[in-house]
Amino acid sequence: MPTDATAFGPGRVNLIGEHTDYNQGLALPFAIADGVTVNAWARDDRVVRVLAVDLDEQDEFLVDSPGRVDGWRAFVRGTVAELSRFGVPLVGASLEISGTVPRGAGLSSSAALEVALVLALLSESNVPEPDRLELARLCSRVENEWVGAQTGLLDQIASLFGEPDRALRIDFRSLSVRPVALSLGGCELVTLDSGEEHIHAGSGYNQRRAECAEAAELLGVDSLRDATMEMAAELPSPLSLRVRHVVSENSRVSEAVVALERGDMEELGRLLDASHASLRDSFAVSTDAVEDAVARCKGAGALGARIMGGGFGGSVLALLPPDGLVLEGAVSVRPGPGARVSPL
Ligand code: GLA
Repeated sequence: MPTDATAFGPGRVNLIGEHTDYNQGLALPFAIADGVTVNAWARDDRVVRVLAVDLDEQDEFLVDSPGRVDGWRAFVRGTVAELSRFGVPLVGASLEISGTVPRGAGLSSSAALEVALVLALLSESNVPEPDRLELARLCSRVENEWVGAQTGLLDQIASLFGEPDRALRIDFRSLSVRPVALSLGGCELVTLDSGEEHIHAGSGYNQRRAECAEAAELLGVDSLRDATMEMAAELPSPLSLRVRHVVSENSRVSEAVVALERGDMEELGRLLDASHASLRDSFAVSTDAVEDAVARCKGAGALGARIMGGGFGGSVLALLPPDGLVLEGAVSVRPGPGARVSPL
C-alpha cells in the first residue's frame, strides 16, 4: 500500500575541505537547519505531478518515461528515473516542493532537493530505505547525468548523515564518515551571501574537475589523494596549482580536526584563511563579489573567512569571535540533524 509522506533534506555548510571530494580527499561539512521539504501523495495512475511552491511552477510526466528537461524539473525527473533504474517499483505521485535554503547561494539547495525527493518517493512507494551511502551515490548520479553538473558526494553525504552539534569528517577514498564535535568556545560560524548566484552546471566547476582528472593521469596516480607537493611541481601551470590546492586542502582538513579537538579557534581561523587563499590563488574559483564578502567578514573581526562550496559566487563562511563587530546580512549556522522522512 502506498503511503503519503513528507521528507526534509537539509542544506549544508562545509567547514573546510573544498574541491577534495571528487579527488578522493577529505572534507568537514555539516547539515544545517534550512533545507527542502517534499510532500508526496500517492496516486492511482502512473503520473507524477509536481508543484514547486516557491517558484509557483509545475511539471507533469509519466513514471515510466520521465524524459529530459532543464532547471528544477531535471532534478525531479532524474530522481524518478534513477530510482526506477535502482529497481524501486515507484507508483504515481503528487509532489509539493518547498524550501528555506536559498538557491544558488552555495548552501547545497540541489542536494537538499535530491535527498528530500529520494526519501519521499521511497517512503511513498513503501520501499525500505537502502544504505544511505547508496542513496548519496544515487542523488549524485541525478546531478551528474540529468542536471549536467559533475559534482562529487560532499553535499549529499552531509545532508544524509548530518548530526546535531557535530561536523562530519568524510574520507572520500574509503567513504568513511566520522562525526567530530563542533565546540567553538563562544565563537560563531556565519554565512554571508556574496550576492552572486552560482550554478555548477554552467560555471567553471566541470572544468576544474576535468583539470584534476588530467593532472592525476599525467602523474600516474588513481586520484589526487595520492599526489604530493613535489609531484605538483612537475606539472605545467595551471595543473600544478590545482594539485597544490588539493594536497594542501587535505592537510588543512586534518589540522582543522585537531584544532577543534583542542578548542583552538585562532588556529581554525588561520586554516579557513589559508583555504580561501588557496581556493583563490591556486584553484581560481573566487570572484570580485566573493572577495568583497570575505573582506567584509575580516573587517568585522572574523578569525577566518573563506569562499565555500563550488565557488564562482555563492556564500562565504566566517568564524566570528565572541567580541566581533556586527556583520550585516550574516546568518548564524550550526550543525543540525540529517535528512528525515515521516508519514503525512
Ligand atoms: C559543490 C559540489 C561538491 C563539492 C564542492 C566543492 O558543492 O556539489 O561535490 O565538490 O562544490 O568542495
